[in-house]
Amino acid sequence: MTADAFVAGATGYTGRELVRVLAESGRKVVAHVRPDSSRLDEWRERFAALGATLDTTPWERTQLTESLRRSAPAVVYALLGTTRARQRASGQGESYESVDYGLSAMLLAACVDSGVCPRFVYLSSVGVSPTTKNPYLAVRARLEREVRESGLPFTLVRPSFITGPDRDDARPGERILAGALDVGLSALGALGARTLASRYRSTTNTTLANALARVGFDPEFANRIAEGADLGA
Ligand SMILES: NC(=O)c1ccc[n+]([C@@H]2O[C@H](COP(=O)([O-])OP(=O)(O)OC[C@H]3O[C@@H](n4cnc5c(N)ncnc54)[C@H](OP(=O)(O)O)[C@@H]3O)[C@@H](O)[C@H]2O)c1
Repeated sequence: MTADAFVAGATGYTGRELVRVLAESGRKVVAHVRPDSSRLDEWRERFAALGATLDTTPWERTQLTESLRRSAPAVVYALLGTTRARQRASGQGESYESVDYGLSAMLLAACVDSGVCPRFVYLSSVGVSPTTKNPYLAVRARLEREVRESGLPFTLVRPSFITGPDRDDARPGERILAGALDVGLSALGALGARTLASRYRSTTNTTLANALARVGFDPEFANRIAEGADLGA
């Protein structure tokens, strides 16, 4: 099988919408779900209805490499991440280091090892800089650097808050903060700071999924950052 796209983090708020957008636009999509997902049957049914192929390869470098060799995708999307709430719930089991960095770095290594040379589209975040002291942003800065040095074609996508009423975890504080930020940014935009306003304005999973589907395949976005107005924000 030669796939158009492999989506890691396909069950996430952004990932599930990206699988839908890609599949409905006629792309051949592989949706990766961890084999021990408590909602595996639900995802199998949902992705099958969209015509996407479910991949339940365990998070292990050699097995992922083999899977990528088999599906030979043109674009690999890395949309993985944990949250402070999930870290607290898992005890010592999950961290930005082990999930946001660790799994994304393993996926990157598997892409390189596979010899398939897909474009690696990494969902990073606004605010990433090499000197940041914030742990959430620091793992993203590190992974961005490794993506650039990997030898693969890439696109680094840097959205602001990804919000909406239909998240599995409601995140009310985040929605209030994003709403307040958007009000302030609208005022700034009206005063002429449009680039700044569009870079930090919140987005929805649907807007972001459409942007990811577009920039991931667009030659103009090869080996560069996509942010702000690039993402339709
Ligand atoms: N939310 C925001 O405002 C925002 C803003 C900028 C950037 N980002 C970044 O964008 C990315 C996607 O965000 P999102 O809000 O769509 O994420 P999300 O809904 O929290 O989804 C996270 C994804 O990561 C997977 N994952 C988490 N822990 C895992 C583990 N231990 N093993 C295997 N898979 C695991 C989840 O799989 P399961 O369903 O199996 O747990 C899910 O597919 C993340 O890196 C996030 O940090 C988010």
